Amino acid sequence: MTFEQAKQVLDNNGQMHVLRFWDALDIGERAQLLEQIAGLDFESIARMRGMLKTSAAAAAASEPTAPAVVELTADAHAAAYAAGEAEIRAGKVAVLLVAGGQGSRLGYEGPKGAYSIGPVTGRPLFYFHARKIVGLCRRYSVRIPFYVMTSDANDAATRAHFEDHNFFGLDRNDVTFFMQGMWPALDEAGRIILDQPGHIFMSPDGHGGTLTALAKDGCLADMERRGIHTVFYFQVDNPMVEIADPAFIGLHVARHADISVKLCAKREPKEGLGVVVERDGRFEMVEYTELTDEQANRRTAAGELYFKYGSVAIHVFSFAFMKAEADKAMPLHVAHKKVPMCADDGTVVKPEKNNGYKFEKFIFDVLPDAKTVVNLAFDRAEEFSPVKNAAGNDSPATCKHDMQTKWLRWFKAAGIQMPVTAAGAPVFPMEIDPAYALDVTDLKKKGISLRAE
Ligand code: UTP
Repeated sequence: MTFEQAKQVLDNNGQMHVLRFWDALDIGERAQLLEQIAGLDFESIARMRGMLKTSAAAAAASEPTAPAVVELTADAHAAAYAAGEAEIRAGKVAVLLVAGGQGSRLGYEGPKGAYSIGPVTGRPLFYFHARKIVGLCRRYSVRIPFYVMTSDANDAATRAHFEDHNFFGLDRNDVTFFMQGMWPALDEAGRIILDQPGHIFMSPDGHGGTLTALAKDGCLADMERRGIHTVFYFQVDNPMVEIADPAFIGLHVARHADISVKLCAKREPKEGLGVVVERDGRFEMVEYTELTDEQANRRTAAGELYFKYGSVAIHVFSFAFMKAEADKAMPLHVAHKKVPMCADDGTVVKPEKNNGYKFEKFIFDVLPDAKTVVNLAFDRAEEFSPVKNAAGNDSPATCKHDMQTKWLRWFKAAGIQMPVTAAGAPVFPMEIDPAYALDVTDLKKKGISLRAE
């Protein structure tokens, strides 16, 4: 993009202030700024500005109701599992990981997936995900394409991490990295914020950016070429996720669902998980912050929470639905944040108070477009323990504990009683490579025994 073109497009969009330091910039800074301007998505920026102008006088929404949630009986589980296995074996399943986030709560410098979580080996989150796919490929004698979404901030480090670990045993031809979009932040007046005289402040466009990015980077075309029919979606911070869980996939396929959502019973009424609701015949995700106290605490006659289940961002998409959604503009979510800002004299100010608006798209906003949604309940002790915070709830310590107590149960079911503490934790750290045993059935087949030395 030339300077004249940049001027034109900024002028057309009321953002000429972006060039106010132009004369003072050196050649490198000018080139960088022009490149950033060329990459701006002015259509979305216009929507962002519109959002800031119209205040929060939202239309009165009708009362949401709790949706039907499937709790599989043993027989139904077996049938769904067999259907899912057939889908996987036929090479129709792809795995999609979103790992473009900034992991600010954990406070880890690198990509969150490179964070060490193996209780014995210290292996990273990516290892546990990748090794499950290795295990699935072996078990079903199939190639499972793995798409990993990164962002500008962690793309190079993520690729290097996979290289350094020899792709954890995956076939590198089946691993595709693709980058989500980045968006500028706006000030109160809807103006793009510069964080340096020659640089626009940018941040990832949210996990809802996945669909646009998949389309833009040719991943949807790649899936189509490979004959993918069903896509398993998950987040980087949960090493206990049952990747491509056959029962989940089988149920989704059998019901011809557009999207399926795994749900677990919330720990407390206001736990920080989204809640799937039905409203006016459509599904939607309500964030926990948007539930009123009455809704969050409402109980059924049996004394259970009415909105009992939370979503843990484990989904299955039909490829056709995903492709159709990729063309649509998703809703925007705004957050008032502290954004480093370049003052008029060119100095960079680190604000003490929220001074800018960041915008994101959320993947679950496709729910209202889905004709058929399957909500499947699962046992969180088996599949969900995310690494969100550095300490306390949902931290590396709780995650390692939960991983190991799950493995303890596997050993017990395989006839091996490991020594445990009074609190039920293993006395010795333990770890199982998912490619060695994907589940308790695999472990039992190994015929291992415990030998006292
Ligand atoms: P979180 O909402 O937990 O955000 O992301 P985060 O960035 O990982 O962590 P915090 O909030 O800064 O502490 C849930 C999942 O969505 C991905 C993350 O990588 C994680 O797997 N994500 C989030 C993206 O891929 N892109 C985004 O823009 C945001």
